[in-house]
Amino acid sequence: MGQQKTDTSSISFTAHYTGQVWYRNGLSDQPFHTREGALYYTLLSPFEAIGGAIVGTNIRQSLLQRHHLIDHLIEQAITREGVTQVLEIACGLSPRGWRFSSRFPQLKYVEADLPDMARDKAALLREHGSLSERHKVVTCNILVDGDDSLEAVVAREFDTGKPLLVVTEGLVNYFDLDTISGFWKRLHAVLAQFPAGIYLTDNYPLLEDHPFRKLMKLMGNTLGAISRSNVRWHFSSDERMERHFRDLGFRAAKSHNPRDYYGRIAVPETRATPIARILEART
Ligand SMILES: C[S@@+](CC[C@H](N)C(=O)[O-])C[C@H]1O[C@@H](n2cnc3c(N)ncnc32)[C@H](O)[C@@H]1O
Repeated sequence: MGQQKTDTSSISFTAHYTGQVWYRNGLSDQPFHTREGALYYTLLSPFEAIGGAIVGTNIRQSLLQRHHLIDHLIEQAITREGVTQVLEIACGLSPRGWRFSSRFPQLKYVEADLPDMARDKAALLREHGSLSERHKVVTCNILVDGDDSLEAVVAREFDTGKPLLVVTEGLVNYFDLDTISGFWKRLHAVLAQFPAGIYLTDNYPLLEDHPFRKLMKLMGNTLGAISRSNVRWHFSSDERMERHFRDLGFRAAKSHNPRDYYGRIAVPETRATPIARILEART
C-alpha cells in the first residue's frame, strides 16, 4: 500500500455534505440533518447552480444519480436474489441502512466507518430508534489489519452460509489506484468465503473525450487538497474499470451508467452525460 497513511479521518467531513444532499432530497429524516452539512450545502449552492446551468450537471445531481442507482441494485439483489446480509463501509451519514432495514425486516444491515464517524452515526440511529442486532454500526478502516479490519468485521458480523453484499459509496476515489486495489483484493478474498459475493461501488471514469475532463481534474485536485487525501480518477473507460476488477479475481464486473436507467427508476436525468458509474463486481 506504499506510503498511504492509515488515518484518513480528514475525509470524514465530506459525509456532512453528502448527508445533507440526501436529507434535502427526501432520502432521509430530521436526525440525519447536521449544522455542518447545512452550512456546506449553503456555501456550495452558487457553484452547484452554475454547474447545473452551464455544464448540464453538477455534484448534487451526480451524487443523487449514484445514490439512487446503488439503492436500485441493492433492492434487486434483495428481492430477486434473496440477499439478506449487507455491509455498507464508509456509511457516513447515509440513510440507506435506516431505509433498507425498515423496508426489509429479514435483512441484517451493518454500517461501518472510522471510529468518530461510526460513533456519531450510532448516536444518530439510536435517536431514530433504528439500532438493533440486525441494524448496527461498527468501526472499520479499510486500510488496517486487526480488530477494525474488513476481515475482522466480516468474521464477527456475518454468516458465511448466506450471500453477502458489500457497498462503498463516496469512498474509493479518495485513494490512489494502488492503495484502493489493495482493499479490493482483500475484499475479493473475503467475499469468496460466501456462497455469493456482490460488491457495489461508485466510480468516475475520466473518459478521454469527456467534455468536462479538465473540470473533473480540477474538482478532484480541489477535493483532494481540502480533504488532505489522494483523490484520483482511476480509469479512462468503463471497459478498463470492468477489466481491472476481473483482473483482481472477480468472476464478473459491470459498470452501470445512470443514463441507462432514465425513466425506469428514480435516478435524476441530467442534460450532460453522467459522470458517475456504479461498478457491480461478483465473486
Ligand atoms: C464522502 S463520505 C461518504 C459517506 C456516505 N457513504 C455517503 O455517500 O453519504 C466518505 C466517508 O468515508 C469514510 N472514510 C474515510 N476513510 C476511511 C477508511 N480508511 N475506512 C473506512 N471509511 C473511511 C469517512 O469517514 C466518510 O464517512
